[in-house]
Amino acid sequence: MKTKSNFKGKILNIEKIAKDTCKMDILSPMEKADAGQFISILCPNTTLRRPFSIANFENQIITILFKLKGDGTNYLSSLNKNDEIDFIAPLGNYFDIKNKKALLVGAGIGIAPMLFLKQTLNKKNIENYLITGFKSEDEMIKGSDETVVGGSVIDNLEKIIQDKKTEIIYSCGPIPVLKKISEISNKYNIPSQIAMEKIMACSIGVCRGCVIKIRKNNEIINASVCKDGPIFEGREVIWD
Ligand SMILES: Cc1cc2nc3c(=O)[nH]c(=O)nc-3n(C[C@H](O)[C@H](O)[C@H](O)COP(=O)(O)OP(=O)(O)OC[C@H]3O[C@@H](n4cnc5c(N)ncnc54)[C@H](O)[C@@H]3O)c2cc1C
Ligand code: FES
Repeated sequence: MKTKSNFKGKILNIEKIAKDTCKMDILSPMEKADAGQFISILCPNTTLRRPFSIANFENQIITILFKLKGDGTNYLSSLNKNDEIDFIAPLGNYFDIKNKKALLVGAGIGIAPMLFLKQTLNKKNIENYLITGFKSEDEMIKGSDETVVGGSVIDNLEKIIQDKKTEIIYSCGPIPVLKKISEISNKYNIPSQIAMEKIMACSIGVCRGCVIKIRKNNEIINASVCKDGPIFEGREVIWD
């Protein structure tokens, strides 16, 4: 397990890659990160740091993809090459990689951790197929094996599971999509690992503001998404 630290990084590149969506590469002294983990960035115009999944980490360069939402992400989009950025990382747990035929599902900006996971699986020569979905063509982000535009990533999922002889599903996206994926994976008796999202305050397991209910060893317990997650087994999450 890597210890989290507060880092200062330098922005190497920032660019718009789709409608209201930016990609940022940050040169950082951080030594290691795994797919599923996230960083929590200080935005001087907001009280709380903002969490973003690591979309890649290679040669000390962290890549994040972010969608413009409010003050924090608007501030980030105003930054330039060579600007300094303050963040805590690596945060949270990570995908527990199995040597099984993997289906990766990313809805919208949920593609971010899936790209890092795909890279990791490729390096380990583990067969994988990434399907992503976007509301419109101008929101599309590249890097998937299959992209659904306009519809939902769920629509064709059962057919893909069968065609690809899927043995495990990894996914990230809005809660209703994750819930549905978890139901489908249960139906086919396939394990699923999902990256949960919750609005976060501290991002480091202190405030308990990001708690969800999960079932572990037949007990219902409170788990914090930022520290115990963000990756959970689909079948252990208790969906509201
Ligand atoms: C573990 C984790 C990883 C994430 N990874 C990414 C990523 O890779 N790329 C990305 O674009 N976003 C990601 N997010 C969401 C991102 O943190 C929020 O979009 C961001 O904090 C919004 O900040 P803001 O100040 O721009 O907007 P705010 O003014 O804080 O919020 C604008 C709107 O977005 C909603 N919102 C804020 N935070 C969240 C959240 N965590 N989940 C759902 N809705 C939210 C608010 O309710 C509000 O309606 C992640 C969140 C978590 C918890
Ligand atoms: S955000 Fe504070 S415990 Fe998770």
